[in-house]
Amino acid sequence: MSQSRIRLERVTKRWDATMAVDDISFDVTPGQFVILLGPSGCGKSTTLRMIAGLEEATSGQIHIGGRDVTRLPPGDRGLSMVFQSYALFPHLSVADNIVFGLRSRKVPRQEQRQRLAKVAELVDLTAYLDRKPAQLSGGQRQRVALARAVISEHPICLMDEPLSNLDARLRSDMRREIKALQSRLNMTVVYVTHDQVEAMSMGDRVILMQHGTIVQDGTPDELYNRPASAFAASFIGSPAMNLLPLAAGEQGAVIQGEPTPPVAPLNAAGGQLGVRPEDIELRPASAFGVLARVLSEEYLGADTIVHLAIGEHTLRARLTGKHALAGQQCRIGWPTKAAHLFDANGRRRDDLTPYSLDLPGAESQLSSPLSGSSQTSLLAPQLYPQH
Ligand SMILES: Nc1ncnc2c1ncn2[C@@H]1O[C@H](COP(=O)(O)OP(=O)(O)O)[C@@H](O)[C@H]1O
Ligand SMILES: [Mg+2]
Repeated sequence: MSQSRIRLERVTKRWDATMAVDDISFDVTPGQFVILLGPSGCGKSTTLRMIAGLEEATSGQIHIGGRDVTRLPPGDRGLSMVFQSYALFPHLSVADNIVFGLRSRKVPRQEQRQRLAKVAELVDLTAYLDRKPAQLSGGQRQRVALARAVISEHPICLMDEPLSNLDARLRSDMRREIKALQSRLNMTVVYVTHDQVEAMSMGDRVILMQHGTIVQDGTPDELYNRPASAFAASFIGSPAMNLLPLAAGEQGAVIQGEPTPPVAPLNAAGGQLGVRPEDIELRPASAFGVLARVLSEEYLGADTIVHLAIGEHTLRARLTGKHALAGQQCRIGWPTKAAHLFDANGRRRDDLTPYSLDLPGAESQLSSPLSGSSQTSLLAPQLYPQH
């Protein structure tokens, strides 16, 4: 299986003035499902196409299975590729589309038929083999493209935004199908997407890119819980992590424009505090915490996104259940481990520990302000007459 190890060493791609990929290095171990994630234009496709041999690296080396393939043509690299556009031949049947590569490699007919039957079964296309692509749904077309990659039996499969033409429901089904197929066949997959949900739910490992460089390379869990930068923090999670500027206060760093309470040691001032919407607790205005005003709420069924203002800064909180709090004053807090500090350049600071905003007295009913889903359990109603 070591023939499916991929290694990029200081790879760069430049087009005249455009630095598409800027000196990146990473290793993909056999059987891994690795995601290249990032906003449009950050260099994901270029990186993938250099691995495939569809673009030539300006500098650096690419190794596949211990072989330097940097200057080898795509056909000699032992990999298959699935594109967003599917790239199916409209005049060929599903069966002919799937075996096209085997045919051009002169694989014997008998073997082609056997492999086709097996793969069609695997991706649930057995009943559609005689159809033309135009007679298929989007999801089925995507499965034909997958089948064509799988039938090649190459140990490495590269996928570039393969699900972006599908509707949301189908995307989520196909996410699970691709993931199941990959682990069943023990394929090594490098998968490009700009969708953080795909990245988090499919990847063993996520490589987050920005401006042609790698911002963070880790498990989905690491990216969520320990974002390396303010950019990584805001790219993973929905709604995005709240980022609030910190200024010097009397007893430490405070949220800019809000003199109390201090939320971090003094030398965090000038940087940013990050707290995810799902980690914010709402408390009555008489309790301990940062004073905030509820601007509006969006009810989503299982939970409510509450829009808050602290001075001139806005932030979002995700509360379980239904809440109607618009117009009210409250205090907010968060578990200490949910507070992330970033310096003035957006880099994570691990040298400082945020201050605790816990409520004193664990027996207080307010210590679990989110228990229950009725709107009155959240903020004491006598303090907040509903208008
Ligand atoms: N063939 C090309 N010629 C010139 N510039 C290109 C070419 N392909 C991509 N680029 C540029 O390289 C950068 C990275 O592109 P790409 O890798 O396609 O980004 P992504 O896939 O992350 O959206 C972009 O600025 C893009 O405009
Ligand atoms: Mg792309």
